[in-house]
Amino acid sequence: MIAIACDHAAVELKKEVEELLTSLGLAYKDFGTYDTASCDYAVFAARAARAVASGACERGILICGTGIGMSIAANKIKGIRCSLCGDPLSAKLTRAHNNSNMLAMGARIIGPELAKEIVRVWLDTPFDGGRHQHRIDLIAALERGEEIE
Ligand code: RB5
Repeated sequence: MIAIACDHAAVELKKEVEELLTSLGLAYKDFGTYDTASCDYAVFAARAARAVASGACERGILICGTGIGMSIAANKIKGIRCSLCGDPLSAKLTRAHNNSNMLAMGARIIGPELAKEIVRVWLDTPFDGGRHQHRIDLIAALERGEEIE
């Protein structure tokens, strides 16, 4: 199950991404927002991020105007590694190296075709593990308030 959420700036792009997920045979849970009335992106980012952090959803996709606000908010939730991507190579490398469990994109920054290509690559790319696992473990230590050197 893929968690998906957006703010008022990204309702249309979210619909297109949902259509892509459906065409790929992937189930999703839409955490809103559902219309273009002005809203607060952190609320919707947190709903989707909590679903990913709890394991209710395997991964999540967040879309706001720039992708920045939602990515910042999602990364406040313990266990979330949300990657703001505007190109497919970043999407590939953040899966391979960071085991990214949430993808953020900016509807005012990239067009729908590029966004859908980013989603496809991000969904398809496995985590490389190995030395990258240790680095993710260090991020988890930071979340616990530990010093790392
Ligand atoms: C909303 O106007 C805008 O601030 C939001 O979509 C996002 O870009 C925030 O980072």
